[in-house]
Amino acid sequence: MLLQRLASKVSVLAPAKINLFLELLGKRPDGFHELETVMIAVSLFDRLEVTPQDEPTIELDCAWEIGQMAQANQWDDPAQFLGDLPPMESNLVYRAVKLLQSEESVPRGAKIVLRKRIPSASGFGGASSDAAAALVAANQAWGLGCSIERLSDLAAALGSDIPFFLHAGQLGSGQAIATGRGEKIEAFEGKRLDLVLIRPAGGLSTPEVFRRCQIPHSPESAEGLMSALRSDRQTSIPRKLTNRLSSPARELSPRIDRLATLCEQLDVVAHQMSGSGSGYFAICRNRPHALQVAARLRAANVGMVFAVTTCGIRALRN
Ligand code: C5P
Repeated sequence: MLLQRLASKVSVLAPAKINLFLELLGKRPDGFHELETVMIAVSLFDRLEVTPQDEPTIELDCAWEIGQMAQANQWDDPAQFLGDLPPMESNLVYRAVKLLQSEESVPRGAKIVLRKRIPSASGFGGASSDAAAALVAANQAWGLGCSIERLSDLAAALGSDIPFFLHAGQLGSGQAIATGRGEKIEAFEGKRLDLVLIRPAGGLSTPEVFRRCQIPHSPESAEGLMSALRSDRQTSIPRKLTNRLSSPARELSPRIDRLATLCEQLDVVAHQMSGSGSGYFAICRNRPHALQVAARLRAANVGMVFAVTTCGIRALRN
C-alpha cells in the first residue's frame, strides 16, 4: 500500500488481490478451512485517509468512487456490479481501527475517509485490503509504532486475508503464498503480470461458497505455477489454474461459466475465478494484449472490467 503523510493526515492506497491458485487441504475444528493459496496484489485501488482526532470517537465516511469508471464502461446501473457497502459499525475498517484503539489503549480517535473502487463480494479482497490499510494508517497517525506482526495478529481475528495485505504491503513484492486459514504468509518475488479483472453482475457470499465446497482426496500442488512465476516468461504460466472454490461458486452464479467461455475464445494465457468469486481474471501476454482483452470483454457487456498489472507496493511507495 502507498503511504503518504500530509501533516497529521495519513493517506494509503489499498490494492485488490487475486488468487492465482487456491486449494483446500482440510476442514479445521474452528469451522474454517486449511488452505494453500497464491495471492498477488494488483493495481486496482481503494483510497483511505486517517486523520487523528482529540476526541476518542472513530468516524468512517465510506463511498464508491466510480464516476469515471462508470462513464468509461457506459453503465446505467453500476450498483449491480459493485455490491453493497456495509453500515459503519460492521465495516472491517471501522472494526479494525476500533480494535487497535482498544488493544493499544489509544486515548485519541480518528476520522477515516474511504473511497472505494474494488467491487465487493468479488474475491478481490477489497474489504480486507481496506482493513489492512486502515491499521497501517492509524498506527502511523497515532504514532504507535506497532510492528506488522502485531498488526497482523490483531487483524487475523477479523479476516483471513488481512495478514496478506499487511505483509505484502510491508515486504513490497505484493506476492505471497498463504497457508493455514490464509494468515501464514510467505512472500516471494514473482514476475510482473498483465491482467484483466472482471466482476460480473451479482456478487457471491464467501461463507455460502465455502459451505458448498468439497475437500479433495489428492490436493493439487502450486509447484508448477510457482516455478513459472519465478521464471522470466509470462507465457510459461500453466494454462489450467486451480481454484477449488470455483465449482461451488459456479453452481451459485452461471455468469462465471460465461466468463470462462469468453476468456477461452480470447486466447488469454490463463484464466480463473478469484477467491470465492464472483470476480474473474485473465492473464494476458502483455499490456497491449490486456487492453485489447478488456475492450472485447466490455463490448460483450459481461460486467465491470479492469486492465491491471501486478503491483509491487514498496516500489509504489518510493
Ligand atoms: O476470514 P473471513 O472473514 O474472510 O472468512 C469468511 C468466511 O469464509 C468464514 O466465515 C468461513 O465460512 C470461510 N472461510 C473458511 N476457511 C478459510 C477462510 C474463510 O472456511 N480459510
